Amino acid sequence: MSLQIGAVKLPHNAVLAPMSGVTDKPFRQIVRACGGGLVVSEMVASHAVLSAVKDEMRKLQFSAEEESPLSIQLAGWDPEIMAEAARIAEQLGAGLIDINMGCPAKKVTGRLSGSALMRDLPLAADICRAVKSAVSVPVTLKMRLGWDPTSRNAPELARIAEAEGIEMLAVHGRTRCQMYKGEADWSAVHEVKDVVGLPLLVNGDIKTLDDVADAKQKSGADGVMIGRGAQGRPWFVAQAGAALRGNVVPQTPTIAERHEILRNHLDGMLSFYGTHALRLARKHMAWYAAGLPGSAALRQVANNATDASLVFAAIDSYFLEQSGQAA
Ligand SMILES: Cc1cc2nc3c(=O)[nH]c(=O)nc-3n(C[C@H](O)[C@H](O)[C@H](O)COP(=O)(O)O)c2cc1C
Repeated sequence: MSLQIGAVKLPHNAVLAPMSGVTDKPFRQIVRACGGGLVVSEMVASHAVLSAVKDEMRKLQFSAEEESPLSIQLAGWDPEIMAEAARIAEQLGAGLIDINMGCPAKKVTGRLSGSALMRDLPLAADICRAVKSAVSVPVTLKMRLGWDPTSRNAPELARIAEAEGIEMLAVHGRTRCQMYKGEADWSAVHEVKDVVGLPLLVNGDIKTLDDVADAKQKSGADGVMIGRGAQGRPWFVAQAGAALRGNVVPQTPTIAERHEILRNHLDGMLSFYGTHALRLARKHMAWYAAGLPGSAALRQVANNATDASLVFAAIDSYFLEQSGQAA
C-alpha cells in the first residue's frame, strides 16, 4: 500500500532523499521519468529565500506537472523565517514541506540548524509548530539518530514532531557525529517507529534491493529513502518502490538505455543552468559510468570540456563502445 501523507498519496514508498548539489530539478525529473515517486529538493536555506538570493530561488524552481508530488526541504534556525519560507514554497506549488534536522555540515549546524536542532528540542518543536501552522500542505521531518552516541534522542524528537502535527518522518540511521562513516543502523530506527504512529522512512546505505528489504524489516519502517544509491542510477528508486509493493521490479536499463538517460539528463541540466551545467554534470557522468570499464577517458573529457557538443560526442562514443562490448 502506498503511503498517504495528508492529501498527498505517494506513487510508491521509495522516496528520493534530498541531496545538495544532486537532487536539483534536472535530476529529479530523470528520477521521475524512470518511475520514481516522491522526490525531495535540495535543502533550501530559509533565510536566503526571504532575501530572494538567486541561487536559492533557483532551487525553488520545479515543474509541478512532471514532479508532483514534490517536497521542498527547508533548513534554518528561526521559526518565523522557516514559516515564511514554507509559505513561499507552498505558493510556488510545493506538495509537501520537509524540515531538515539531519544535515551534519558545519556551515549548517554552526547556526543551530540541520542536525544541531536535535540538541535543542524546544527550538525544534517551535520550528515544527511554526512551519505547520504556516502552510496547508503536509509537513514532514528528516532527522538522524541523534547528535552523538550519548544523545540518541530521535525517539524523543519524533514524539515532539508528531505532537506538533508533522505527518511523516525520515530517519537516517547514523548520529550527526558519525557524519557518513560506519554503517547506517537500521535497527536503531525501529526505536523511533515504536514510539510514533506516523509513517516513517528508513534512510542510510540503501543501495541494493536486498538492502531495501533488510532496512525495512530491521527498522519496521513504512518505506525507504534513497540518496547515494540513486546517484548514476536514477532508476533504482522505481525498482525499490516496485519491490516494496511486491510488484515486478523494472529491469535495470541496458547500456543503450543508460546512454539515452544520461543524454536526457545532460540536456535537462543545460536548459536549467546554461553552460554552467557542464561543470555540475561532471560528477553525474562519473556516477553513470561507475563500474563500467574504461570510464577514465569519458571523465577526462567531462572534466575539461567547455563545449556541450564535445561532451555529448564523448558520451556517445563511450556508450556506443560499451554497447558494442556488451553485444
Ligand atoms: C551530496 C549529499 C548531499 C546531501 N544533502 C542533503 C540535504 O540537502 N538535506 C538533507 O536532509 N540531507 C542531505 N544529505 C543526506 C542524505 O539525504 C541522506 O540522509 C544520506 O546521504 C544517507 O542516505 P544514503 O546512504 O541513501 O545516501 C546529503 C547527502 C549527500 C551524499
